[in-house]
Amino acid sequence: MLVDGHGRHVNYLRISVTERCNFRCQYCMPEKPFSWVPKENLLTFEELFMFVKVAIDEGVNKIRITGGEPLLRENLDTFIKTISDYRPNIDLALTTNGYLLPQTAKRLKDAGLKRLNISLDSLKSDVAAKIAGKDVLAQVLEGINEAIKTGLNVKINMVPLKNINENEINDILDFCIKRQIKVRFIEYMENTHADSSLSGMHGREILTKIKEKHIIKALGREGASPSFNYRLENGYEFGLIDPHKHDFCENCNRIRLTAEGFLIPCLYFDEALSIADAVKAGNISKATEILTEVLRNKPKENRWSEDELADREISKRAFYQTGG
Ligand code: 5AD
Ligand code: SF4
Repeated sequence: MLVDGHGRHVNYLRISVTERCNFRCQYCMPEKPFSWVPKENLLTFEELFMFVKVAIDEGVNKIRITGGEPLLRENLDTFIKTISDYRPNIDLALTTNGYLLPQTAKRLKDAGLKRLNISLDSLKSDVAAKIAGKDVLAQVLEGINEAIKTGLNVKINMVPLKNINENEINDILDFCIKRQIKVRFIEYMENTHADSSLSGMHGREILTKIKEKHIIKALGREGASPSFNYRLENGYEFGLIDPHKHDFCENCNRIRLTAEGFLIPCLYFDEALSIADAVKAGNISKATEILTEVLRNKPKENRWSEDELADREISKRAFYQTGG
């Protein structure tokens, strides 16, 4: 079992398979980065899998594939199948913007993927286009339908932003109630790569909007999930991901691997160690040692919390490298 320096059990690995993306979301990558990681610096799926085995053998039982946009990486379904064949009961999930799902959802399911989180920030095509930097809505909706059809467990992520999509919180909620899929509202996490004019909605502001239409009951956090769950009067449950709240990091169970092999202990901070040389050399004990070292130094909590807002430096960590 993996335990970090604060006694938290770590059983969840998130792997960003590419930092590239076909969207330019304002909160993540409003412009193409000055330079991408050169293709030759990316770990191959064989190298990534070598680390996946280390992690699984040490106790990881939940893996999420992220990006950038992970569906841009070729042969992703083969990678998924390799993981699924190695440990069939692993909780295997993927986060996507949904654009490429119409043609890939079935293949992902057949490869052994179990769950899919899809970003949906607006149901208005002009607003969706403003957020993502191009006209994406129709194809994303088609992708969501396709994913639901395959029987994958689908969740929707929405990041409510002031003066942009804040009036659509209840529309997205209705959309998800109708389809009986879970929605999670995510507080915008300030970072230096995002559009500097953005202002996110705080969790309590998001809840206020929902309370205009519903009676809600707080259920609490479900295990180590970052999502605080609520139930509506009709029984439907939704989540709120509130990294600005003090207890957000208390049960953090995750670690992140980037496409070029950096192990990142926390989404907020820049600190990282590379496992690239170790896996390229096939040196499993070295990779395990680096994993242990990163866990030992995993920060206690992020610095998005409210008290810190005034005097802290904004996070320099790019979401397109960690996959959120
Ligand atoms: N703040 C909050 N969520 C973000 N995501 C990306 N960037 C940010 C940010 N700055 C989330 C989006 C998307 C997922 C891939 O990561 O919700 O659905
Ligand atoms: Fe791409 Fe996701 Fe970042 Fe949007 S949030 S730019 S879809 S990686």
